Amino acid sequence: MEEIKEILKRYPDRRGALLPTLYIMQREYGWLSQEALQAAADALNLPPATVKGVATFYAMYRHKPMGRHLIQLCTNVACMIMGAERLVDLLKERYGLEPGGTTEDGRFSLVIMECIGACDRAPAMLVDTDFHADLNEQNLFEILEQYK
Ligand code: FES
Repeated sequence: MEEIKEILKRYPDRRGALLPTLYIMQREYGWLSQEALQAAADALNLPPATVKGVATFYAMYRHKPMGRHLIQLCTNVACMIMGAERLVDLLKERYGLEPGGTTEDGRFSLVIMECIGACDRAPAMLVDTDFHADLNEQNLFEILEQYK
C-alpha cells in the first residue's frame, strides 16, 4: 500500500494510477484474483467494475494462478522462422508444458507472445522479467534450468 500511495502522487487522478497498481498487485500475489481486484478498487477508490474492465482488457494481467516462473515465448513471424515452434514442442516434451498452462510442479507457466521487439535475435523469450534471445534447442534448457 505504501508503494501505491507513492504512485498516486505521480498522477493527476486515481484512475491514472490503475495500471501500475494492478502491476503491483500481480507482482505481489502472482495473479489478479477477485480479492486483488477488490483491493485495487479500494486502494484507488474506483468502482470494482472499472478495475475489472481494465484488468481484463490488457493481456499482461493474469487471472489465474501461475507457476513460480513465467515463460513468455514469442512465436511471431521472425521467431517462428527461426524455430520458435520447435521450442514450444520441446517445452511440452521436457516439462509437459503447454501454451497457457503450468507445469505439474508449479515451476513454470507458458504464455505465447506476439513480437517482443527482438526480431533480430529471434527466437526470443522473457522468463519473469529476464530477456533471453538467440534461443535454440540447446540453450533453451540451459537457461530454464537456472530457474528453480
Ligand atoms: S517476432 Fe519474435 S521478437 Fe519479433
